[in-house]
Amino acid sequence: MSVVTKTPAAQDHSLRLLNGSAKAWFFTAVAGQLMFVFHILYFYGGSTVRGDFAAWNEVLYHGIISGDTMGNVALGIHLLLAAVITLGGPIQLVPWIQKNMRQFHRWNGRVYVVTAIIISLSGLYIIYARGAVVGPFMGAGNTLNALMIMVCAVMTMYFAMNRRLDVHRRWALRLFLAVSGVWFFRVGFGLWILINQGAPGHTDAFDGPFDIFLAFGHALIPIAILELYLRVKDKGKPIFRKAMTLGLVLLTALMAGGIFMATIIFWLPGS
Ligand code: HEM
Repeated sequence: MSVVTKTPAAQDHSLRLLNGSAKAWFFTAVAGQLMFVFHILYFYGGSTVRGDFAAWNEVLYHGIISGDTMGNVALGIHLLLAAVITLGGPIQLVPWIQKNMRQFHRWNGRVYVVTAIIISLSGLYIIYARGAVVGPFMGAGNTLNALMIMVCAVMTMYFAMNRRLDVHRRWALRLFLAVSGVWFFRVGFGLWILINQGAPGHTDAFDGPFDIFLAFGHALIPIAILELYLRVKDKGKPIFRKAMTLGLVLLTALMAGGIFMATIIFWLPGS
């Protein structure tokens, strides 16, 4: 009898802990993504308003190339949509908005999915027409990330249109993490520098062991962790849920460190 009554309570408790850690992870990630949006609006938005496109070329790998209209348009679209998609994603995942602002959720969702596809295609155009940014490993990692974004975008939309909302939600989470890949790349780089007070395994040609790891890891690792989280949440015993909770708390702390460092290195004005 005691086993029968204890198990559901333990399940509830471990589920509450897991949900709490997932929320803490999400809010930390959103805070970090807002810093990324700030960088995009302040730096690219600001220099566009001033008509100072030369500023772009000081930070970008290819940047604006005179005579390459297609490439420059692709880059402009890419940067404009970067702000739209990074702001639109977190809003889409807030349960209160999903429940109380359904019409908005639907429209923001359509915009998000279309934006995800266009930003991926514009990124692919840049790397295949102009050459991979910083080297072949990053080119391959970016290509993988772009393909994952487009597959997740199509699946998210497909299951929303078929009213399979449980499956839709899962694909939407995968899409959010795939879209956040470029952000994870910067946070991962920041974390590595913070831990090592330098960047061992990184080379100028981005072909060191750490570079290769991050080139693919920024696309694959977040989604692998999500899959584990979903399985543990659905079917895990309380002990596994508690272990996952601990893992998420640790990951959140590491991510906060990476965000702090990425903000200093990449996103603050003048960095
Ligand atoms: C989906 C979310 C994405 C966002 C929010 C995003 C955002 C950005 C931002 C802000 C930059 C400028 C660099 C910086 O200031 O940090 C950039 C550059 C770039 N992105 Fe993306 N990006 C995304 C996806 C992709 C994908 C999937 C690809 C690859 C296929 C890609 C390829 C590129 C390339 C090649 C550049 C560099 C252009 C240059 O240096 O001339 N991006 N992106």
